[in-house]
Amino acid sequence: GGLAVAGLGGFWIIDMVVNDDFDSVTDKFRTRLPESERKKRPKVVILGTGWGSLCFLRKLHTDLFDVTIISPRNYFLFTPLLVGGTTGTVEVRSIMEPIRKYCKRADAEDATFYEAECLSVDPVSKKVKCYDNSAVKGEVSEFELEYDHLIVGVGADNQTFGIPGVKENACFLKEINDTRNIRDKIIDCLETASYPGQPEKEIDRLLNFVVVGGGPSGVEFTAELNDFLQSDLLKTYPLAKRINVTLVEALPHILTIFDKKIIDHVEKRLQSSNNTKIWTKTAVVGVREKEITVKNTTTKEESIHPYGLLVWATGNTPRKITTQIMQSIGPNIQNNRRGLVVDDYFRVAGTDGIWSIGDASINPSKPLAQTAQVASQQGRYLGRLFNQLAEEMNNDLIKKRENPDAHKEEKEKQQEKLNLFNSITGSNKSFEEAVKEKPLFKYKHMGTLAYVGDHQAVAEFKGDHSTTVSEGYITYYLWRSVYFTKLLSVRNRALVSFDWLKSSVFGRDISRG
Ligand code: FAD
Ligand code: NAI
Repeated sequence: GGLAVAGLGGFWIIDMVVNDDFDSVTDKFRTRLPESERKKRPKVVILGTGWGSLCFLRKLHTDLFDVTIISPRNYFLFTPLLVGGTTGTVEVRSIMEPIRKYCKRADAEDATFYEAECLSVDPVSKKVKCYDNSAVKGEVSEFELEYDHLIVGVGADNQTFGIPGVKENACFLKEINDTRNIRDKIIDCLETASYPGQPEKEIDRLLNFVVVGGGPSGVEFTAELNDFLQSDLLKTYPLAKRINVTLVEALPHILTIFDKKIIDHVEKRLQSSNNTKIWTKTAVVGVREKEITVKNTTTKEESIHPYGLLVWATGNTPRKITTQIMQSIGPNIQNNRRGLVVDDYFRVAGTDGIWSIGDASINPSKPLAQTAQVASQQGRYLGRLFNQLAEEMNNDLIKKRENPDAHKEEKEKQQEKLNLFNSITGSNKSFEEAVKEKPLFKYKHMGTLAYVGDHQAVAEFKGDHSTTVSEGYITYYLWRSVYFTKLLSVRNRALVSFDWLKSSVFGRDISRG
């Protein structure tokens, strides 16, 4: 026990050093500006409360900026443990963090939060239009906000490739409601299959669970589902032994981002369970209420398969708001299918004062995976960049705003060169001059981990010249330790530890609702 605690503590400290995460602690020594000066701070609007946006906010010295956060959900979601929520290995409340907690930090400036969805951005007038997409609406359910700087951290949507019937019939695996929906359906299928007189064929259909997409989401879900089946469902439902789980992948192998050795190991592991099959080189091409059409990618043959539960995890596509911003800039500049094209400083190409991090954006010269690891590092980097530039150059910002004519001539001379970042900083340096000596974003890959079921995980650590892979029980404890330390608060850590203990001692809850 002592060793485990020491190990976790050690990992935590290494992680903080590597990610330079100590300066959020120093925020509490920052002092509040007088009210008259606060009003003149540049307006920073942050879209989203996910990995990128929250990491940006946590780094940002909110005394220097007037910060507003807009997101349709008023919490941060710890996605690496989301799959466990579909079976009850963890309770979803344990992996949520209220965003308002981060808006009010001791002795630092407040940030404002509005729970709303951003509908559109006007990059010319520098305004965002938002609306209340929640159930409770007031007299005001739409509003507009001005920004000097807009941080787009809206993540990505579920990719369906426009396949008919997916949105209407499949369960996705991205948000809190998705996990509730899946957990409910698993149990509902079993309860309905148990009806007296239920035809045999219908029982087989109801207990046919199909997972589409052999990426990390689909594989982790298949593994969790198998654990749920083996440890809990088989003990309680006589019909559970008839459950069939099929993981469908269009490519020749699952988990293609991993090393070949890991792929072999995981494919063998998952198929070693009597209830689980993997169909590779098979693409789902059509979805109806009770059946799917699949196509063999080699023979092009199509066949129909009935299902009770269909989980769809075939990757990401840009969100509606991301596409709207891209269209407002124009297809000559914004033409990447993955999202907003950004430069080395995360400035959105073709705009002034719009920045984007995480799954919503891509730097085509240095493309990175769409992961929490990447989004969080980008958020931290951008927060630091804003602080550095503002602190170094904005000493006279407030004076300039009070007396705009004083620098008129100088400003006119430099008009061409001026980058919008100057409106933050009040400096006459161009953005390029200002950041010349600033370090560029450098992604530090800490490794890729995935849970593969029955207390086993896989890990891959890529060095410059070699790749280290590991699998099995020890890797599982590493996987748990890493994500445990990455949880943002002591409250989350306590809740998740309790959930893990609870599900291993008492089993997972099989009640519906
Ligand atoms: P997100 O974290 O998705 O946040 C987007 C935010 O924008 C949300 O708050 C959303 O509500 C908000 N938003 C959406 N639309 C609007 C709008 N119109 N206006 C305003 N706000 C809006 N990565 C790893 O590194 N390791 C893992 O183990 C891992 N496991 C994962 C497991 C699952 C099941 C999933 C789905 C993903 C996993 N990922 C993992 C990937 C990781 O979650 C994403 O890469 C990461 O969340 C991207 O961060 P982001 O800030 O770009 O977007
Ligand atoms: P993904 O893009 O990684 O994988 C999707 C898979 O679905 C692909 O292998 C693709 O070939 C397959 N596919 C697409 N269309 C199909 C069809 N019609 N029929 C059958 N198969 C089809 O997507 P995933 O797993 O949703 O992950 C999204 C992002 O989140 C990725 O960037 C991933 O790295 C990240 N993530 C990371 C995790 C980790 O590090 N442990 C865990 C979960 C997600």
